[in-house]
Amino acid sequence: TSEYPHINRGLDGIVAFSTTKSSIDGQKGELIYSGYNIDVLAEKATFEEVCFLLWNDRLPNKSELDELKNELISQRNLPKPVLEYIKTTNKNAEPMAVLRTAVSMLSDFETENSGDKAKDSRKHAIAMTAQIPAIIAAFDRSRKGKKIVSPLKEGSTAYNFLYMLNGEKPGDAAEKTMDLCLILHAEHGMNASTFTARTICATESDMFSAVTGAIGALKGPLHGGANTAVMNTLLELEKEGDSADAVAFTKKKLENKEKIMGFGHRVYKTFDPRAFHLRKMSKKLSEETGHEKLYEWSEDMMKTMKDEKDIDPNVDFFSATVYYSIGIQPDLFTCIFTMSRVSGWSAHYIEQSENNRLVRPRALYIGEKNLEWTPVEKR
Ligand code: SDX
Repeated sequence: TSEYPHINRGLDGIVAFSTTKSSIDGQKGELIYSGYNIDVLAEKATFEEVCFLLWNDRLPNKSELDELKNELISQRNLPKPVLEYIKTTNKNAEPMAVLRTAVSMLSDFETENSGDKAKDSRKHAIAMTAQIPAIIAAFDRSRKGKKIVSPLKEGSTAYNFLYMLNGEKPGDAAEKTMDLCLILHAEHGMNASTFTARTICATESDMFSAVTGAIGALKGPLHGGANTAVMNTLLELEKEGDSADAVAFTKKKLENKEKIMGFGHRVYKTFDPRAFHLRKMSKKLSEETGHEKLYEWSEDMMKTMKDEKDIDPNVDFFSATVYYSIGIQPDLFTCIFTMSRVSGWSAHYIEQSENNRLVRPRALYIGEKNLEWTPVEKR
């Protein structure tokens, strides 16, 4: 009796938009941002170049890149009421929840409208890309009772973030690691948070609303929240000390029908190309920082998942140990994903608003119809 014969649970395989932002070949394990393979970008690009690429579908020339860097630097300061909120909110709040609220607040201070939607979108994309790192660092310091550090008037997004978080300027290696993480997480097709951002954009709502909604979607453990969950799993193993056995641990979880965080993907049926880079970084960093065990357990989990389920790691698996090795605490990991993905969300917002149609699918009603009304005292 259904008007719709088929429900596509999770919109699996549905193509709802066209895009020039990224292409994912899930069989080959290939990822392209606006024409450039992720392996090329990982080797040669900076995060700022990737932002320009995603927003403009081409690489910047030297003066365009300098201009973008300067604009990002000039937008790093947070409005006072946002800082006040960060300082006064519950110190035990989830960082992603604080970030979501603070990003939403930013729109209160972007009320000037030039009348040119493309120009305003670009301005808002830059403002959020510059201010999200400042929000994360300010909340982390504030909750630890440390003084909030003002942003630098120089340096890359990665450099300034590590400086604001730790209160000291990072070394070249830490900056490079952070920058590479930002490049690898910037854009990924119609993932849940980007779909959310495009859906909000399609109602002709503003970019701050789209990014706020996207942060809510990214926060969940089936999406960006998985990186924090991965680290918590590895730290659980660490607590077991010498008797820790990552193979047995993984098998037991699988027997109990539990999901292993950081594995599996709707699109990739092979190794996630981002995980390839993160795995290399994780190995090198864990050796350098004395966290070899965490890396060994990660490898054991990976082999067990391959043998038992033929499932590969996704972007969130090895990013966890990378962030941990550069001294970032686990509950900030998904915020760092946000710091990068805001570039992709805003690129999709711009693209959607250039050729918009309301997103409005349908649901199959499976309830009863035309029931008789019972007065409240008789129910
Ligand atoms: C990201 O889409 C994107 O682009 C997202 C992302 C991005 O860049 O934005 O790449 C970032 O979000 C990565 C994903 C992070 N999430 C996790 O690591 C959580 C654990 N993973 C899974 O829950 C799962 O793999 C998903 C959510 C990622 C994908 O879910 P699907 O496509 O709905 O797949 P499914 O749950 O239907 O799984 C298919 C089969 C099932 O087995 P059967 O019932 O067929 O026997 O694979 C099994 C699942 O049980 N399976 C897993 C598993 N992932 C899939 N079993 C154990 N552990 C897992 N992690």
